[in-house]
Amino acid sequence: MKNYEIRIAETEFETQASLALRRQVFVEEQQLFEESDADENDSSSITINIWKQGTILVGTVRCYPDLNTPSLWWGGRLAVHEQYRIRGIGVYLIEAAVQEMKQRQVPCFRAQVQEQNVQLFEKLGWTKVGASTLTQGLPHQIMEANLHVHDARKHKQSSRI
Ligand SMILES: CC(C)(COP(=O)(O)OP(=O)(O)OC[C@H]1O[C@@H](n2cnc3c(N)ncnc32)[C@H](O)[C@@H]1OP(=O)(O)O)[C@@H](O)C(=O)NCCC(=O)NCCS
Repeated sequence: MKNYEIRIAETEFETQASLALRRQVFVEEQQLFEESDADENDSSSITINIWKQGTILVGTVRCYPDLNTPSLWWGGRLAVHEQYRIRGIGVYLIEAAVQEMKQRQVPCFRAQVQEQNVQLFEKLGWTKVGASTLTQGLPHQIMEANLHVHDARKHKQSSRI
């Protein structure tokens, strides 16, 4: 993972950098939201960012507790900067989020996954929960992480970036 550093956002600068990347991906690129993808879950979210050479934010993901079910956490707003895709950063972020949930002994970790990314999550051991539904006008599938296995692929993926 030479030149890349993954860490939980702690400062206002790090949080704002994540929001800016999300805006670039979910508002401008995918046009899922008109002005902002920020919502009420941001205040209770853990944001995991991945930085290149300490200053370039290349990817981000957030995890937050369900409002009604405390044993359930959601992962979401997974975004990799367009110029840094297909080099393992997305996988690295998903696995970092799963590790964070395991460390916190969260019993159940789910994500609403865009249809085109379902295979990617399945490769990482996630399973579908229920049927696909439309969210923000796009088909999404709820998926659940397997929190009870050690994922040996982590080491393979880290070496790709
Ligand atoms: C989805 C996303 C996070 C993936 O990030 P990434 O860093 O490009 O993914 P990785 O490099 O870790 O790729 C993981 C695997 O998926 C494959 N993959 C990723 N995006 C792909 C695409 N658009 N088409 C085909 N394959 C793709 C990679 O080839 C790789 O396969 P491999 O493990 O067999 O080599 C990124 O494309 C993105 O930010 N997209 C826009 C926002 C989005 O869709 N967020 C997710 C919402 S659920």
